[in-house]
Formats: sequence, structure tokens, C-alpha cells
Amino acid sequence: MIDKNTYGPWAVVAGGSEGVGASFAEQLADAGLNLVLIARKPEPLEATARAARERGVRVHTIELDLLESAALDTVRATNDGLDVGLLVFNAGANTYGHEFVTGDQQRLQQVIDLNITAQLQLTQHFGAAMAERGRGGILLVGSLAGYLGQGQISVYSATKAFSRVFAEGLWLELREYGVDVLELVLGVTRTPAMERGGLNLDLPGLNVAEPDDVAREGLANLGNGPVHVAGGNQSAAEHRSGFPRDKLALEAQEASRRLLPEEEA
Ligand SMILES: NC(=O)c1ccc[n+]([C@@H]2O[C@H](COP(=O)([O-])OP(=O)(O)OC[C@H]3O[C@@H](n4cnc5c(N)ncnc54)[C@H](OP(=O)(O)O)[C@@H]3O)[C@@H](O)[C@H]2O)c1
Repeated sequence: MIDKNTYGPWAVVAGGSEGVGASFAEQLADAGLNLVLIARKPEPLEATARAARERGVRVHTIELDLLESAALDTVRATNDGLDVGLLVFNAGANTYGHEFVTGDQQRLQQVIDLNITAQLQLTQHFGAAMAERGRGGILLVGSLAGYLGQGQISVYSATKAFSRVFAEGLWLELREYGVDVLELVLGVTRTPAMERGGLNLDLPGLNVAEPDDVAREGLANLGNGPVHVAGGNQSAAEHRSGFPRDKLALEAQEASRRLLPEEEA
């Protein structure tokens, strides 16, 4: 269990209502950290807040689309005066699967705005305060997709590569201040967003992780940055980091086709 003296008294979970985000919220509440939970849909957000309050901690909710241009101002206004020792940036599953050249530029841009722009804004805001007080942690949720370019999700996979490389640089900088940084790399995980996407999670041989397990693994490894690959996917990440790139990219494309719903495959 994580130490609330190091990472408390408040934690912010951006994307803290469903799936891995809800698991983070509940596990952080069990550790005694007060929470600020951010998400768009009010019902899951309130349900997760209630579950955390029942564990005896204080919870603020921010019903907010992190894509809004004033998102950081809204987060700042709600957090003003709170001593935040942990930021978990979890929101960021792909929202647009399409060939790039014929894709809708605005929807492609939104993938960048959430996974890069919003992530950087919140990380700088909370990271600066953590550096000043000399303790804390930043956990960015990444993806195995960020180890290899993939057709139909070329922008998403590139944003996840960005996040991982950014996390490594930030880890180098913030360790000087006693602040931990971790990119938590997930493989396929049984979240509501994945289930809504209709992916074939029951494919024989597919390694599907559960949200509670990967959240627990992430919190346990906060001090073991800059990168931790969760859910038994370390060898897959190593494989995807190799050469030759053409062979690896084609092989991964074939594997992800099998995951897609029948009509899209
Ligand atoms: N599930 C997987 O198989 C898998 C695999 C690899 C990596 N990951 C990574 O794991 C993380 C979580 O993924 P997920 O599958 O749970 O889906 P997700 O769609 O990223 O949802 C996670 C949380 O973020 C919130 N959220 C999403 N977009 C938001 C926005 N624009 N503004 C504010 N909140 C937002 C969601 O609530 P609302 O929808 O109500 O806003 C939810 O609470 C992502 O970073 C994803 O890339 C997931």
C-alpha cells in the first residue's frame, strides 16, 4: 500500500471514474489519501466518489472534458489550496480509429490534445508544486501501443510513445527534487471503454488484465520509474522495441486485427 505521507494528503486522478481510474481511486482511498476525481460522465464519477468516501476519505469531483481549452483553469480552481502529492493521468484510450490521410483532422487532433496537451498541462501544474515541497509522485498511464506504430491508430500509438519518452525525461528531472515519475504501460485491459468498443477480449491466448490488478501494480511500482510494464507484458514490450521494424509492425497489425469486432476486421 502506498504511503500517504509521501504521496498525500490529496491525490488527483484524471480519468478517475471507470476502469483502471476507478481502481486507482479505490486503492488510494484504502491507503487514506483524499481524492480529486476528474471525468466527463456524472454517474460513474459519482459512483466512484461514493465508493471512495465509504472508505473514509474526502473526495472532490470535477465533471470536466479534459479537451476543453479552459480545462486546466477549471482543475486549478477546484484544487486551489489542496496539498496534492500524487497525480495519476489515466484518461486517454483511443477515441478515433481511422486511416490517417483520409481521417477527420479534428478528431485526430483530439487524440493529441488529450494524450499530450492535457497530460503536459496537468503534469506541469502539479509537478511544479511537488518539486517545491520535495516529495510526491506522477503516474502516467501508457500503452503497449506506444512501442510500435500501428495502422488505424497511428496518432494514438505515437502519443503513447511520446508519453513514455516524456516520462523518462521528467523522471530524470524530478528525481532531483524527490518526486517519483512512472509511465505505467498497460496491455489489453478489461475496462468499460474497451467493452463498449466491442473488442474480442475472449480470444484464446489473449493476455487480458483486470483494472484492479494493473492499478495495484502501478501504485506498488511508483518508486521504480521511469517505466513499468504491467500485466505480464514486459517481454511483449521488449519484443516490440526490437528490429526489423517492418516485420514487427506487420506482425502486430495482424494481432490487433484479430481483436477488432467482426465487421471492422
Ligand atoms: N483498456 C485497455 O485495454 C488499455 C490498453 C492500453 C492502455 N490503456 C490506457 O489506459 C488508460 C485508461 O483506458 P480506459 O480503457 O479505461 O479508457 P478511457 O476512455 O481512457 O477512460 C478512463 C477514464 O478517463 C475518463 N476520460 C476519458 N476521456 C476523458 C476526457 N476527455 N476528459 C475527462 N475524462 C476522460 C473516463 O471517464 P468519462 O468517459 O466519463 O470521461 C474514465 O474515467 C488510457 O490511458 C489508455 O490509453 C488502456
